[in-house]
Amino acid sequence: MKLTVALISLGSQSSKWTADAMRKYFEEVDEINIKDIEVNISSKDERVFVQGKPIKKYDCIYVKGSFRYAQLLRAITTELKGLCYMPFAPRAFTLAHDKLLTQLSLEQDNIPMPLTYMAATVSSAKKILEKIRYPVIMKLPQGTQGKGVMFADSYAAASSMLDTLDALKQPFIIQEYIETDNVDIRVLVVGDKVIAAMKRKGKGEEARANIHAGGKGEAYEPDSFTKKIAIKTAKALGAEILGVDMLESVKGPHVIEANISPGLQGITEATGINIADKIAKYLFNQTLNYKKKDSGDKKENVLSDLGIVNGDLEKKHEIIAKLDFRGEKILLPEIVTKLTKFSEDEEFVIEAKKDFLKIKKMETSDK
Ligand SMILES: Nc1ncnc2c1ncn2[C@@H]1O[C@H](COP(=O)(O)OP(=O)(O)O)[C@@H](O)[C@H]1O
Ligand SMILES: [Mg+2]
Repeated sequence: MKLTVALISLGSQSSKWTADAMRKYFEEVDEINIKDIEVNISSKDERVFVQGKPIKKYDCIYVKGSFRYAQLLRAITTELKGLCYMPFAPRAFTLAHDKLLTQLSLEQDNIPMPLTYMAATVSSAKKILEKIRYPVIMKLPQGTQGKGVMFADSYAAASSMLDTLDALKQPFIIQEYIETDNVDIRVLVVGDKVIAAMKRKGKGEEARANIHAGGKGEAYEPDSFTKKIAIKTAKALGAEILGVDMLESVKGPHVIEANISPGLQGITEATGINIADKIAKYLFNQTLNYKKKDSGDKKENVLSDLGIVNGDLEKKHEIIAKLDFRGEKILLPEIVTKLTKFSEDEEFVIEAKKDFLKIKKMETSDK
């Protein structure tokens, strides 16, 4: 099948590699810069524009970008949902790009993470600092590449950092320090598999193991429990492609961060695995599955249009009825509610055009 894909990103090296790899599988690959995108939220017509023109129809759209674009990424994917295959639920962008929101959602799935504290005022934050064990970590919820992570080995150090953060009006979280001799692991989840992992060690005395902070990466094979935690993390956040940062201490693995737009250079170099190719191939196969499902649906619609009810009567019913209109709104017959078991608190994908309407329950529900 000939399939088309758009990669919406900031055009980093990792994105270029991914786009090149996608050319092996997809018929057409468009690279779109996130800065050229405009979204008309709740518009009755087109909602996503590229350089002022409605976005083309694609079979797959892969959206990437840094935390600065988290809200835009969520808006784009919300507005395009149901129109093509995308590897992320819209919520994934705002959750993954904020360490506090990540932790709050992972906690619900019992995913182990370091103990983390938050407070509204400096004086209540200092009360936390008085009672916790040192060293302690202080983090900006939206930092990346190790830049928003600070270590304090005493109350005095932590307290002075706190005053500085407060003076800058910078939100922060306080976190338990997990002892791993400055080593962390980056696990790359694609679909329901771990496709690559590396161990990173901070340079010299540097406790941050990020490659951007001078850390060195080497290939690593996590045990099956650690892999399971990483896969569960990706599922919980609604991301089919995710870089999960973890610390493996004597107390077991702890997730510290989720990277929804993971850099590919460091991990490709450390593992020798062609990660861009694995991602491209996965996206292609998922798009194929999505298209097959879609055309299966279409066939059934044609049959029921002809008055032929396909398959089990218990499963699908054709109803001939007049529709009730309340002003501009359409009211469906009560039997439709009974058959579909749709309920008010669920979300739906509505496909509509002239003379045609289809309503489908959304597969991954937003938390
Ligand atoms: N709770 C912690 N205990 C020990 N080291 C930590 C902790 N949190 C972060 N680190 C170190 O700091 C690095 C960066 O933290 P991370 O939460 O991944 O943020 P970033 O978005 O900056 O990568 C980690 O790779 C790890 O080496
Ligand atoms: Mg990290």
